[in-house]
Amino acid sequence: MVVTTRYAALRRPARASNGLLRGRQAIAQAAAQVVGQQVLANQAVAPAPVQQVQPLAGAGGDEDADWPAFLVALDARTTLLDALREHLGLTGTKKGCDQGQCGACTVLVNGRRVLSCLTLAVSVQDHSITTIEGISGPGGELHPMQQAFVEHDAFQCGYCTPGQIMSAIGCVNEGHAESDAAIREYMSGNICRCGAYPNIVAAVNQAKVSTRS
Ligand code: FES
Ligand code: FES
Repeated sequence: MVVTTRYAALRRPARASNGLLRGRQAIAQAAAQVVGQQVLANQAVAPAPVQQVQPLAGAGGDEDADWPAFLVALDARTTLLDALREHLGLTGTKKGCDQGQCGACTVLVNGRRVLSCLTLAVSVQDHSITTIEGISGPGGELHPMQQAFVEHDAFQCGYCTPGQIMSAIGCVNEGHAESDAAIREYMSGNICRCGAYPNIVAAVNQAKVSTRS
C-alpha cells in the first residue's frame, strides 16, 4: 500500500497563531503539512520523488503564510520522523532511540510538542509541523532559544540539541517554564547523554520571555 500525500511547508516568515516565528526557505523550513491523501491499495508502486505542487491558501489556518505544497509517496507506516528526514531532507530532527524514550526527534505539531518517531506521517494531515530548521528569523537570525543555548553552552556533542530546543519552545509556550523545577520536570523527556542539563535550564530561563507568544 502506498499513500500519496501532499505536504505544505512554510516559505515566508510569518508569525503563526501560536506565536512561533518561523523561518523562510521552504525546504529549510522544517514546516510541513499533509493536506491530502490517496490510497493506492495492492499496487507495487515505487516511491515517487518529492514534488512541489500548487501552494494552498491559508493552509494550517496560518492566514499570513505562504505554504508551498509537496507531493510525496509514502508507505502508510512511515513515521513523521522518517518522512521529514528521508523524504523531505529535513535532517535537523534527530533519530536517537526511535522508540519514544529520548526526545531527540521532538517537533511541534500546531505548536505543541510531539515525538515524531511515534507519529505516523499520515496522522498529521492538515497540521503545521515545525522542526528546528523552521524557527530562525527571516534574515536567518537565531531564534531566542537557539541563541540562549549558544550563550549558555547548553550542549556538548549537540545530537540532542534540536530536540531540546524544540521541546524548550513547546515547554515555554505551554506555560511550564515558570521555575527551574518546572523546566526540569517538563523537559524530562529530553535526554542529554552529555549531561548539559544545568546549562539547558539556564538557557530556557533566559529565552522564556522572548519565546513566549
Ligand atoms: S528518537 Fe524519538 S524519542 Fe528517541
Ligand atoms: S549535547 Fe550531547 S547528548 Fe546532549
